[in-house]
Amino acid sequence: MITFDHVTKQFEDGTIAVDDVSFSVAKGKLVTLIGPSGCGKTTTMKMINKLISLSSGSITIDGTDISEQDPVELRRNIGYVIQRIGLLPHMTIEENVALVPKLKGWKKEDYQKEVDDLLDLVGLEPSTYKKRYPLELSGGQQQRIGVIRALAGKPPIILMDEPFSALDPISREQLQDELKLLQKNIQKTIVFVTHDMDEALKISDEVIVMKDGCVQQIATPDTLIHQPSNAFVRSFIGEDRVKQAIETTSKRQASSVMLPLTAEVLQESTPRLPDSSPLQEVAKMMLTSKANKIILMAADGEATGWIAKDQLLKELAGIDMEVI
Ligand SMILES: Nc1ncnc2c1ncn2[C@@H]1O[C@H](COP(=O)(O)OP(=O)(O)O)[C@@H](O)[C@H]1O
Ligand SMILES: [Mg+2]
Repeated sequence: MITFDHVTKQFEDGTIAVDDVSFSVAKGKLVTLIGPSGCGKTTTMKMINKLISLSSGSITIDGTDISEQDPVELRRNIGYVIQRIGLLPHMTIEENVALVPKLKGWKKEDYQKEVDDLLDLVGLEPSTYKKRYPLELSGGQQQRIGVIRALAGKPPIILMDEPFSALDPISREQLQDELKLLQKNIQKTIVFVTHDMDEALKISDEVIVMKDGCVQQIATPDTLIHQPSNAFVRSFIGEDRVKQAIETTSKRQASSVMLPLTAEVLQESTPRLPDSSPLQEVAKMMLTSKANKIILMAADGEATGWIAKDQLLKELAGIDMEVI
C-alpha cells in the first residue's frame, strides 16, 4: 500500500508542481494518474522512488515513511518504466533485464531463469531475443522489454510514466491488453501515468484526475465516467464519452439485472413492465409511479422477476434517474 498524505512539491524556482495531494494505492491495484501536460503527474510519481524530494507531507509504503528509507534500496524494490524506455544500447536484452536481479545478488541460474520467464510472459521467444541488442527490436518489442525489466527482481511496486505513448496506436493497444492480462497474473501495485483517457479507463482499477498539481477526483473508471465530480473532469473525460456511457447503461435490458421473484413481492400491488424493457424505462416508471419496486414479465405476461430501486440505482452507477 502506497499512501500520500498532504504531499506538496515546490521546486526551487517557486513552481508548485504538486499541491497538497493525498491518496492511497492498495496492494495489487493498478492506479492511474491522469491530467493535462504539466499538471504534476511525473513529479508525483518520482516522489515515490525519491527521484524528487517532497517539500511537505509524507509518503509511506506499507506503513514505512520513505524518508526513512535508503533511496538505492528503495528503488531496487520499485520497478520503473518510462516513455523513452531507457534500455542500455550496448547491453543485450538479457543483460538489460538481468540488471536489477544481479544488483540484488541473485545467483546466475536464478536471474537467467527470470529473464526467460519474463520474455515468455510478454510473448518474446527467449532463445530468439535474449542475445539481441535493443536496436535490433521494434519499438513495441523494446517497450515490452522496458516493462519486463521493471518486473525483473520481483519488485512489489511498479511505476510507469506514459510507457506506451510513443508507440503507434496498434502496438499501444496491444501493450495495454498485455499489461491488463499480466496484471491479472502478477498482481503488482502499479502507479501508471498517462494523459490518454481511453488508456486510463481501459487498464485502471482506480483513476486519479489531476489539474494544476491538485487532485480533482479519485474514482473507478465506471464511477468517473458516470459521475465526474466537476466541470474540469467532465470535459477531460469528454462530453461524448460521458453521454455514451449513460446511454449504454440505460439501454441495458431489465432482464439482465432482475432478481428472482418471491411470494412477498408478488402479493404487493407493484407496477409491471416487460422484462425486455431498457433500464431507462424501468427508471422512468419508478419515478412516475413513485414505486420502489417494478415487477418484470415475459411477453406472455407471466412475471419473471423484479427490480428494487436501490439495485437499479446501483446498476445505473450513480446516473441521475431524472436525466436518463
Ligand atoms: N525541476 C523542475 N524545476 C521547476 N519546475 C519543474 C521541474 N520539473 C517540473 N517542473 C514543473 O512542474 C510542473 C509539473 O511537471 P510534471 O510533473 O512533469 O507534469 P506532467 O508529468 O503532468 O506533465 C510543470 O509546471 C513543470 O514545468
Ligand atoms: Mg510527465
